[in-house]
Amino acid sequence: MMMGRMAQVTIHVPPRPYQARIENGLFTRAGALLAELLPQSSRIFVLTVAPVYRRWGAKLLRSLKASGFRPQVLQMPNGEPAKRLETVETLAEKLARLGADRKAVIVALGGGVVGDVGGLLASLYMRGIELVQVPTTVLAQVDASVGGKTAVNLAAGKNLLGTFHHPRVVLIDPGVLSTLPNREFRAGLYEALKCGIIGDVELFLRFEQNRDQILKRDPLELEWLIAASVKLKAEVVSADEREGGLRRVLNLGHTIGHALEAETGYGQLLHGEAVAWGMIAATHIARTVGRTDSVTAGRITDAVLSLGRLPEVKVNTRKVLARLQTDKKTQDSVVHFVLPREIGKVEVVNDVPERAISDAMEEVRRLSRGGWERKGNC
Ligand SMILES: NC(=O)c1ccc[n+]([C@@H]2O[C@H](COP(=O)([O-])OP(=O)(O)OC[C@H]3O[C@@H](n4cnc5c(N)ncnc54)[C@H](O)[C@@H]3O)[C@@H](O)[C@H]2O)c1
Ligand SMILES: [Zn+2]
Repeated sequence: MMMGRMAQVTIHVPPRPYQARIENGLFTRAGALLAELLPQSSRIFVLTVAPVYRRWGAKLLRSLKASGFRPQVLQMPNGEPAKRLETVETLAEKLARLGADRKAVIVALGGGVVGDVGGLLASLYMRGIELVQVPTTVLAQVDASVGGKTAVNLAAGKNLLGTFHHPRVVLIDPGVLSTLPNREFRAGLYEALKCGIIGDVELFLRFEQNRDQILKRDPLELEWLIAASVKLKAEVVSADEREGGLRRVLNLGHTIGHALEAETGYGQLLHGEAVAWGMIAATHIARTVGRTDSVTAGRITDAVLSLGRLPEVKVNTRKVLARLQTDKKTQDSVVHFVLPREIGKVEVVNDVPERAISDAMEEVRRLSRGGWERKGNC
C-alpha cells in the first residue's frame, strides 16, 4: 500500500465501479473531489447526527461551499434505535419539503447507522438518488460504507429491511477518528483485524507488531490500516457483489457474534466486540475440528485479546445453539461457519459438530472472565 499519498480503492460493481478514497485530512478536499464527480447543479444534503455534526460538520461544509456547492444539513437522532423505517420516512418528507428532486445527493456523514439510513433513503427517494458515504467510525470506514448494503431494523430483527445501493464515492478521512469514544474505536478495530485474518497477512502482522501505535491512533498507522481493510473488502465485494459465496468470508466471527448480540439483547456488547468473541470462538472451533494448527489459533486469539479487555460474556450455551438453529432457518438451512485455516486464509464450513460449538463457547466464557490475563497479554 502506498504511503503519503491518497489511497484509492476501486469497487468493481455493476452498473458502475466506484472508488473509496482514504487519506488523512481528506475532509478539507471533499468539496473539490465531489466537484469532479457531481454536476455543479447538484443539491447536496448532508445527513448526520449531533455528535458528529458538532465535531466535523463545519469542516466538511466549509469544503463543500468552497467548491461552489450549497449544502443543506439534515439531522437524524443518534444511535441504533433510530435505524428504522420511520426515520427514513421522516427524512424523505423533509427532502420533499425542501424541494429535493432527482438531482439531490445524500452525503451520509457519520457511523454505520447514518450510512445505512442515508443509503436506504437515497435508494428510495424518487426511486433512487446519488449517495456519497463519508464514514466517521472505524466500523463504518472499514466495513459499512463499502459494499452497497443499506438497511434498517425491524422488531423481528436487525437489518431485515434494506436494499443494495452503491455510493458514487466513499470519502474516508481517518483523521476524524480522533474524536471517537475509545470503546467505539476499539470495537471497529476488530473488523479491521478480521480483514487481516480473512485475506491479508501484512495487515494481520501490523496488528501483531504495531499494536501500540494503532491503539494510540497514530494517524499514519490508521491510514494504512484502514486502506488495507477497505482494499480487502473491496476485493471480496467486487468478486461477489451479493453474497453468493465468496462474500460470506466477511462473516468471520459473525455467526456466533450475531448470536451473542441477540442473546445479550444488543445492549451489552458493541457489534465489533461480539465479532471479537465470535472470531475467538471460530478459531477454537477450527482448532477442534482440525482445520487449523495450534500456532495459528494462538496467534489469532492473542491478536484479538491484545487489543484490550472485552466485556464479559455470560450467555447460556444452549441458548446460543438454539439461536444458531433459528438463524439457519432464515438462511439456507445450514449453519455456515467461516473458519480460519492459516493467517490470511479462511474457509466456509457447514458441518461443525454441536460439541465443537459448545466447547468454543466455554472457552469464550473462560477468557471473558479474565482467563487470558495470566498469560500477560493485556
Ligand atoms: N451496510 C453494511 O454493510 C454494514 C456493515 C457493518 C455494519 N453496519 C451497521 O452499522 C451500524 C453500526 O455502525 P457504528 O458502529 O459506526 O455505529 P454508530 O453509527 O451508531 O456510531 C457509533 C457512535 O459514535 C458516534 N460517532 C460517529 N463518528 C464519530 C466521531 N468521528 N467522533 C465522535 N463520535 C462519533 C455516533 O454518533 C454514535 O454515537 C449498525 O447498525 C450495523 O448494522 C452496516
Ligand atoms: Zn460486522
